Amino acid sequence: MTTLMIDAQQVCKNFGRLEVLKGIDLQVPKGSVTCLIGPSGSGKSTMLRCVNHLEKVNAGRLYVDGDLIGYRERDGVLYEISEKDASRQRADIGMVFQQFNLFPHRTVIDNIIEAPIHVKRQPEKAARARAMELLEQVGLAHKADAYPVQLSGGQQQRVAIARAVAMDPKLMLFDEPTSALDPELVGEVLRVMRQLADDGMTMLVVTHEMGFAREVADQVVFMADGVVVEAGTAAQVLDNPQQTRTQEFLSSLL
Ligand SMILES: Nc1ncnc2c1ncn2[C@@H]1O[C@H](COP(=O)(O)OP(=O)(O)O)[C@@H](O)[C@H]1O
Ligand SMILES: [Mg+2]
Repeated sequence: MTTLMIDAQQVCKNFGRLEVLKGIDLQVPKGSVTCLIGPSGSGKSTMLRCVNHLEKVNAGRLYVDGDLIGYRERDGVLYEISEKDASRQRADIGMVFQQFNLFPHRTVIDNIIEAPIHVKRQPEKAARARAMELLEQVGLAHKADAYPVQLSGGQQQRVAIARAVAMDPKLMLFDEPTSALDPELVGEVLRVMRQLADDGMTMLVVTHEMGFAREVADQVVFMADGVVVEAGTAAQVLDNPQQTRTQEFLSSLL
């Protein structure tokens, strides 16, 4: 039994000759929240995509809940796993994107029950009941039969979070979940995320919301140019950064 939900060891990823991740070490204990910050282009999204096995790492090891992601190891040799096994690993990891990615031609509730029914083979009645419970939690039970286009960005993002949680993931990844929102809609999404953290969900969150990081993160990791420059508590990294690169980044923010 491991106490780490994510254990990344010297993870490297390149796109052709472009080295994007240059040996990332990242540990996320179960039940904790890590905020990943850093300038645009530093490799944050790529790192999340590797954790979710949407990208294959070129070197290093990446474990989620003790399982090596994307590979099987036998006698020190790595073998790629099948696409079927990869999607099984992926089904346990929820991901929320900047662009909410709801199915536009389906109602809110149908968006939420789609994967539980088709991937997890849940009976429709149970999936609907659970979806309504989740909509209640994110304050959108009254929008169950609406279409995404009829919702604000903040409401769509709350539906996207409910949809991810409906799969009972053991880990949730967020990639700048509030960056596409009008400022007055950011708070309602962060509140839902904070609730999820309070309920014990393990979360890795790429964000520029330093207030959220301060209040919710157990760990803040600052990445730049494909390496982890500095990691620690919010108080350490945000209020008392040791590295010049971190200091420069933080002072460039508003
Ligand atoms: N599929 C891809 N093919 C080629 N280059 C990519 C691809 N995805 C990301 N990159 C490049 O990798 C670098 C890191 O990107 P990304 O992980 O999106 O950074 P961040 O999320 O920190 O802004 C950028 O230079 C980006 O252009
Ligand atoms: Mg990104």
